Amino acid sequence: MRAFHLTGGGIDGLELRDVPTPEPGAGQVALRVEATSLNYRDLMIARRLGGDRIPLSDGAGVVTAVGDRVSEVSVGDRVAATFFVDWVDGTPFAAVHDKARGGTVDGMLAEVVVADAHSVVPVPAGWSSAQAATLPCAALTAWNALMEGRRLLPGQTVLLLGTGGVSVFGLQLAKAAGARVIITSSSDEKLERMRALGADVTVNYTAEPDWERAVLDATGGVGADIVLEVGGAGTLPKSIAATRFGGEIALIGILTGAAGETNPFPLVTRCQTMRGVYVGSRRMFADMNAALEANAIEPLIDRVFPFDQAPDAYRHLTSQQHIGKVVIDHT
Ligand SMILES: NC(=O)c1ccc[n+]([C@@H]2O[C@H](COP(=O)([O-])OP(=O)(O)OC[C@H]3O[C@@H](n4cnc5c(N)ncnc54)[C@H](OP(=O)(O)O)[C@@H]3O)[C@@H](O)[C@H]2O)c1
Repeated sequence: MRAFHLTGGGIDGLELRDVPTPEPGAGQVALRVEATSLNYRDLMIARRLGGDRIPLSDGAGVVTAVGDRVSEVSVGDRVAATFFVDWVDGTPFAAVHDKARGGTVDGMLAEVVVADAHSVVPVPAGWSSAQAATLPCAALTAWNALMEGRRLLPGQTVLLLGTGGVSVFGLQLAKAAGARVIITSSSDEKLERMRALGADVTVNYTAEPDWERAVLDATGGVGADIVLEVGGAGTLPKSIAATRFGGEIALIGILTGAAGETNPFPLVTRCQTMRGVYVGSRRMFADMNAALEANAIEPLIDRVFPFDQAPDAYRHLTSQQHIGKVVIDHT
């Protein structure tokens, strides 16, 4: 089978190799991977990781073989792999990070992948592998942020930053939950697409650098109930200012960089909660799939690249021209 390997040297260091097809052992399944999707994390990993690793956390496909003692899935099932191999349920523990696909262990950018049976999830009914491949990281992170902390209620307001993978799923899930959505973007054209997807209020953060004021204006001076904070140090003070008293800031991303200083005191006086969100467990993934199915949500796929052209998919994500998800078709 063929698989891409990161070899150091960033995206240009991606190498397509012929390698032996892996066989499932006891408790494992083999997947014919039909599609993968990219996340911002994959760009960071390509930049930073030396050594030799099959990249990408997100992929979906069809089970082609099962090892001994596998009862959860059968040959022919369409499944997605989980981001963390061993975070099945409950609170996360330090060791989950030892097996994060496409980072600390090999990922999905291959024609065949062997996975522990507890690390795959049936895809929502009727979904293609291309659609299901968008879910394991971005969608589950948005779900975790909205449903596993303060838990969003109908009528509450959600603030989303930018129109990348996490934020667009955040919009779709928040609307399905009956919330009001405010979303920002650098592009009026992208904001128009977000209104078509149900966004109630849109703010161009380039035209309005003080976008937190626009959020306050749109909420009668109160602020959002939950913020999906994907910007990091460069946006956090504004996100705090745009969150209501008693509201929750889900700390997710570092689009503006990992380092920086933020004064935490406003959290105290505003009685706000800040919660680190790191993707989610297999149980959360299954709960999310039920919600996606019940609400007929379809992922927003920006572009699909053929397997051989995976490096171009990376370049497209790097350009930030995309809205939602960038997918690679392995078939
Ligand atoms: N903690 C976790 O578990 C977790 C999981 C997934 C992702 N993340 C992190 O969350 C972030 C987003 O990930 P993603 O995969 O959704 O990214 P993505 O799809 O690559 O999103 C990129 C988009 O973010 C927007 N953006 C860039 N700079 C911005 C800024 N300063 N303010 C507001 N929006 C900005 C842009 O949208 P516009 O063109 O519309 O402005 C850009 O196209 C990344 O930092 C990623 O590492 C964390």
